[in-house]
Amino acid sequence: MTAVTVVDHPVLAHRLAQLRDRQTGSDTFRQLISEVSGLLAYEALRDLGTAMVTVDTPVADAAQARRVAEVVLLVPILRAGLGMIEAIQAIVPLTEVAHVGLRRDEATLRSEVYLNRLPQDLSDRRVIVCDPMLATGGSLGQVCELVRVRGAAEIIALCVLASEPGLAAFGGAHPAVRVFCAAVDPELNDAGFIVPGLGDAGDRLFGPPS
Ligand code: PRP
Repeated sequence: MTAVTVVDHPVLAHRLAQLRDRQTGSDTFRQLISEVSGLLAYEALRDLGTAMVTVDTPVADAAQARRVAEVVLLVPILRAGLGMIEAIQAIVPLTEVAHVGLRRDEATLRSEVYLNRLPQDLSDRRVIVCDPMLATGGSLGQVCELVRVRGAAEIIALCVLASEPGLAAFGGAHPAVRVFCAAVDPELNDAGFIVPGLGDAGDRLFGPPS
């Protein structure tokens, strides 16, 4: 079963309350998704690879210090995952980004890949898949499978909000993927939306899809 970390912190809970509020407009919603994403990445990457360096401080030569040495690959699931990337890049020093686009059919709830810019070889890479919503878990599962077959050393999923049934389904299929989220909601409605949830993250970030 997948390891799920629900990052329980008042500053995240506060932002999540604003994200859930239907009165929150698009500009604020984008800002909040961004802030929550940076905080989730901070928590998920406590073991980020570092190397010892020396620096000359204003008062001492050759002081020992640590710098990040690992380049992580961020994989935003379009569209909504795009809203997470800038904030993570602001926190994590060395990143690359490979975009994957998925569209969920609202009748069948199955997702179809319409863009895949993943490098062919991901061996030895740590990959962070980013999508604010884990509803049925189908979209995240498809992308994790695309990453897995390319040989990634580790896959971490960052989601702002997940559903209990979605996590159960995802965990059964991808037990090695660690999931970090700000909250887990109990159910999905008939349209596949997380309840109580925060609505359609893609539409609230970017407007209705064309
Ligand atoms: C939404 C959401 C996730 C996915 C979650 O995307 O942003 O990517 O559905 O659903 P799942 O866990 O049941 O697969 P959507 O297909 O609406 O695309 P968008 O981000 O472009 O709006």
